[in-house]
Amino acid sequence: MITGIFGGTFDPPHNGHVSALKEFIKRCGTDRVFVIPTGVPPHKNAGMTSDKDRLEMVLLAFENVPQAKICDYEIKKGGKSYTVNTLLWLAEKFPDDSFVLYTGSDMFLSLHTWHKAEKILSLCSVAAFTRTGDDIPALEKQSEFLREKYGAKTDVYEFEPDIISSTKIREMIETGKDFRSYVPHSVAEYIENKGLYGYKNYGLKTLLRQRLSEKRYLHSLGVAKTARMLAEKNGADPEKAEIAGLLHDVTKNLGPSEQIDFCKENGIPLTTDDLLSPQVIHAVTGAWYIKNVIGIDDEEIISAARYHTTGKKGINLLEKIIYVSDLVEPTRNYPDVEYYRDLAVKDLDRALFEAMRWIIEDKKKKGENIHKDTLEMFDEYTKNGFR
Ligand SMILES: [Fe+2]
Ligand SMILES: [Fe+2]
Repeated sequence: MITGIFGGTFDPPHNGHVSALKEFIKRCGTDRVFVIPTGVPPHKNAGMTSDKDRLEMVLLAFENVPQAKICDYEIKKGGKSYTVNTLLWLAEKFPDDSFVLYTGSDMFLSLHTWHKAEKILSLCSVAAFTRTGDDIPALEKQSEFLREKYGAKTDVYEFEPDIISSTKIREMIETGKDFRSYVPHSVAEYIENKGLYGYKNYGLKTLLRQRLSEKRYLHSLGVAKTARMLAEKNGADPEKAEIAGLLHDVTKNLGPSEQIDFCKENGIPLTTDDLLSPQVIHAVTGAWYIKNVIGIDDEEIISAARYHTTGKKGINLLEKIIYVSDLVEPTRNYPDVEYYRDLAVKDLDRALFEAMRWIIEDKKKKGENIHKDTLEMFDEYTKNGFR
């Protein structure tokens, strides 16, 4: 029996994997293929999808490929996976099989550097699949080298898989882009149901993508990420922080006069002070939009968006987090940003106070109106000893 070996992190498995596997079966004439999700070393686990979820997705992704047998050996074993150990285990379990290992170009070109490469090459033959075809000379050269040095059995195949990667798909989900056509339907459903790769706020992100410029959209993602981090640090609710961060500028696509029209149309009251500080109005309309259009009725989220530009007397923790995150998120690049970024992580109140002081001074210099809410907040902080 010819048994193929098809490993990967599969985080998540996608259509490129499925077509590569089918091609592998066809070209190498394998009777069956073990699809083996790799175990992940504990120190690399941060940000990585759990073994259980990856295994479930692999089961779904290859369910329509009859020759595919999903093998949880490396996941069960845990820790860093060495191909040689998996091969030794397989060879013992199926002594009459001849094994063929699937590799992409990069892996094939570095094969001689793998742990116990010689042993690996004595246990299986290797099928190298190139995506582009332009590295065929390099692959042939490597083939020859492996044959001469280790007596390896190797073959090079050219085929065109779907040009997509797991990294790209994670990025698409994270940023609210439509990823569904790149993964098997059942995998997309699994990701959605489990809220993997940041899918849980996917709908909000899609909405923001439609409403905001690319720059402001990325700013909003940055605020959400920073807000989540600051919430975790300061004992606020990270989920709420993330949502408030995403949505704080949801109506900022409207220009100054459109902001005022929006308020008139929807009966949103504005104070004289609001009208004198026009940049404040998008926070007023944003809070209204979150509540009345998106339908989020969490007062903390609404209020964090409402006061993200001015702050206010008696500002609460989530409001502080959004106020500060807005100023220090990763896409901000004004001269002192690094200073405020560090300070935000070390001491949220101090960062808020210093940022507010700087904003007030800047407005004074420019002769702009300083909103009453900001002045009252500043007063309160100075009364509490901030200098
Ligand atoms: Fe804003
Ligand atoms: Fe903002």
